Amino acid sequence: MARRTTIIGASVLANLWATGTALGQNCPDYSSYSTQQHQPLSNGSYQLGYMRPDPGCRTFNLSEVESTITSMAGSISDPDLYRLFLNAFPNTLDTAIRWKGVAADNADEELTFVITGDIDAMWLRDSANQMQSYRSLLKVSTDRNSLASLYRGVINLQARYLLESPFCNSFQPPMESGIAPATNGAATDDTVTPPYNSSQVFECKYELDSLAAFLEVSADYYSATGDAAFFGRFKWLSALQAVINTATSMMTPTYGNNGTVLFSPYTFTRMTTRSTETLANNGLGSPVAANTGLIRSAFRPSDDSTLLQLFIPANMMFSHYLEQTAKIVDKLGASAPQGLGARMHAFAAELRRAILRHGIVTDPNAGTFGAPVYAYEVDGFGSSIIMDDANIPSLLSAPFFGFTSISDPVYQSTRAAILSETPRAGPNQYNSNPYFMHGPVISGVGGPHQGPGYAWPMASIVRILTSDDDDEIADQLQTLVSSTAGLGLIHESINTFDQTKWTRQWFSWANGLFGQMILDLKERKPELLKRSYQP
Ligand SMILES: *[C@@H]1O[C@H](CO)[C@@H](O)[C@H](O)[C@H]1NC(C)=O
Ligand SMILES: *[C@@H]1O[C@H](CO)[C@@H](O)[C@H](O)[C@H]1NC(C)=O
Ligand SMILES: *[C@@H]1O[C@H](CO)[C@@H](O)[C@H](O)[C@H]1NC(C)=O
Ligand SMILES: *[C@@H]1O[C@H](CO)[C@@H](O)[C@H](O)[C@H]1NC(C)=O
Repeated sequence: MARRTTIIGASVLANLWATGTALGQNCPDYSSYSTQQHQPLSNGSYQLGYMRPDPGCRTFNLSEVESTITSMAGSISDPDLYRLFLNAFPNTLDTAIRWKGVAADNADEELTFVITGDIDAMWLRDSANQMQSYRSLLKVSTDRNSLASLYRGVINLQARYLLESPFCNSFQPPMESGIAPATNGAATDDTVTPPYNSSQVFECKYELDSLAAFLEVSADYYSATGDAAFFGRFKWLSALQAVINTATSMMTPTYGNNGTVLFSPYTFTRMTTRSTETLANNGLGSPVAANTGLIRSAFRPSDDSTLLQLFIPANMMFSHYLEQTAKIVDKLGASAPQGLGARMHAFAAELRRAILRHGIVTDPNAGTFGAPVYAYEVDGFGSSIIMDDANIPSLLSAPFFGFTSISDPVYQSTRAAILSETPRAGPNQYNSNPYFMHGPVISGVGGPHQGPGYAWPMASIVRILTSDDDDEIADQLQTLVSSTAGLGLIHESINTFDQTKWTRQWFSWANGLFGQMILDLKERKPELLKRSYQP
């Protein structure tokens, strides 16, 4: 998601939000609008601002989202918690549907350009998840003003992007939109193989989870609508094969049988002062062993480089959604390439076995003799990284995206290690995640992207989504509602000792995820939404 952010500051890049075609002349730039508290304030101690843009300045309207917001007033008793939901849930529709139209060469092919928020580009990961926040409202519809059409537009545009540049993570507006490509100053001096076209690509970090995101948004659309025929109509089958070929190519190990260094399909270096923005070994990344059955990822979902390329959460996510999308291919029958569905089922199962074989390690800090946990990254040579990072896919979110269940004992010991509750200096039981942040404002998982001292609300939201414990859930809701610096939006990260120091005022995915989590609680734990979260 965000490549780089200032702490409470305007966004890195000039923002074109105010000039969007659907928006009036007098619409404020949401990048600055979202840094100020707007009236009326919520009627609770936290006095959260009203942060939705004026109706005429919203980028897409859906009556089912409006009626959900209205009806949730009766389900959420705390006035501040309700305000946070009201601001956060519609944020992607309100601010991030930058353009919607059709392909120049096919008027039936819908396209939706969804920006991440404060950066004017479309991330595969963010846009898939921005759509997912509305999945519970998704129904069959051919209407161009429907949620189903928004989804189809995202899937079609992602398919186009993946056919152009399957190793890249973030993309420019489609030519049909007439929106000028954004400038990415950080990427100007990148050296990347394979090369890409910067009129089409905003950034080219190869992240396995970006490929999985295309499978995710496809599976989400299919499971809600049953509309398999859509997937046979445009570029989806070709893009799916590009995704599988790209992932397969990134199973190449570093060394061949006789010790020769093998050609890597992807390399990346950047001129930067941040080690997480470039790759070791002249763009290859750290060496990876042969025959693990795992897929490499050069970068994490934070857009930071991996330390060891066999990044387990993305392998989990890819395995799960490959299995889900194989069902679409099965349904397409003879209109899909022969054997494709069977190959996908087999690949998904092989990946799952590889994760169980190579991705589980012993956490020496757990129990008396250690306990098995999922590693964050491994290299197949025997090294592993035990940690978690807030960005999804993370280890904490593994049941949320469907790879495993909350009752999986390895997941439970991993979760205990990730949520290192007791801050201590030395090795202690369950003090194993170097990126768990503590403080009076918020305690939670952070990551190298914003560094030590900054916890990410996204991880607190995932904690709720993966918990059945009422006290834990209520604690996290209390943390979320009390840590927005009065702005009533979900920030990327928050200084654990000072909530006025946060990053990213306009981060649509995290806002949508908050709304998705509240709707999930409405189903699973409605009584928790009836509680007070006042101090
Ligand atoms: C605001 O809260 C106060 C006290 O909690 C309550 O008496 C009042 O009716 C509330 N006003 C509105 C408009 O909800
Ligand atoms: C959304 O609805 C408002 C009226 O409620 C209207 O002014 C605005 O133009 C609509 N936005 C879009 C993108 O259709
Ligand atoms: C780069 O992409 C733009 C927009 O699609 C296209 O017009 C241009 O020809 C491409 N350049 C190259 C070198 O392919
Ligand atoms: C080593 O293996 C590579 C690839 O498998 C092959 O191309 C090369 O000829 C081999 N070199 C020797 C000296 O055997």
